[in-house]
Amino acid sequence: MVSEQSAAFDQIGRRYDESFVERDAQLAEGAWLIEQLGRPARVLDLGCGSGLPTAKQLLDAGIEVVGTDESAVMLELAEAQAPGGTYLQRDLRELSDLGEFDAAVAFFSLLMLTRSDIPPLLRQLREQLRGPRLLLIAMVLGDFDRFPISFLGVPTEVCAYPPDDLRKVLSDADFETVELREVAAEAEPNRIEVQIYLRAKAE
Ligand SMILES: C[S@@+](CC[C@H](N)C(=O)[O-])C[C@H]1O[C@@H](n2cnc3c(N)ncnc32)[C@H](O)[C@@H]1O
Repeated sequence: MVSEQSAAFDQIGRRYDESFVERDAQLAEGAWLIEQLGRPARVLDLGCGSGLPTAKQLLDAGIEVVGTDESAVMLELAEAQAPGGTYLQRDLRELSDLGEFDAAVAFFSLLMLTRSDIPPLLRQLREQLRGPRLLLIAMVLGDFDRFPISFLGVPTEVCAYPPDDLRKVLSDADFETVELREVAAEAEPNRIEVQIYLRAKAE
């Protein structure tokens, strides 16, 4: 079943990369992850979108990437822009059959779910992490659930947590937050938002 969110990203398509102006903080997270991982390493990119910047950054560093996304249009972009990854069209909550990973990243994808979806997803993910067992997340700062927004002119819904609540959601799923930082970034032309970048390790 195609969710409203993936229909939204099917519409957004190529405009996503053209409009997402500032990716420096996300690239810094990717660079940190690359330093933490030995080789070979296998990373799950949840809601990988167009493959930019993260799937490509990890692949270029010799890391195996499995990217999941519901949007066929975003996955076509990922195949073209970050070749060499394994891209699967599926709901990001469906991971149990994907095997084990040294790390997982979810940059601006968990926010597309409802808050009630996130704890079971984190618990499942924790079961599938091995080795350094790292999880990197990017969210927007806020305190809402199923909040209607217009992203690049396309209506969708998002959730957000205040920083301490996000830490607690992770600790309830047995992840220790090792770093959380807030970054003001231009998410769409002329729209600055505060984003949260979080690094966690499965306990
Ligand atoms: C804001 S984009 C982020 C993409 C990418 N991670 C990045 O850093 O640019 C959110 C992505 O999540 C995908 N998505 C939203 N809800 C989803 C769901 N329930 N299952 C799978 N993918 C979903 C969308 O199709 C979109 O590609």
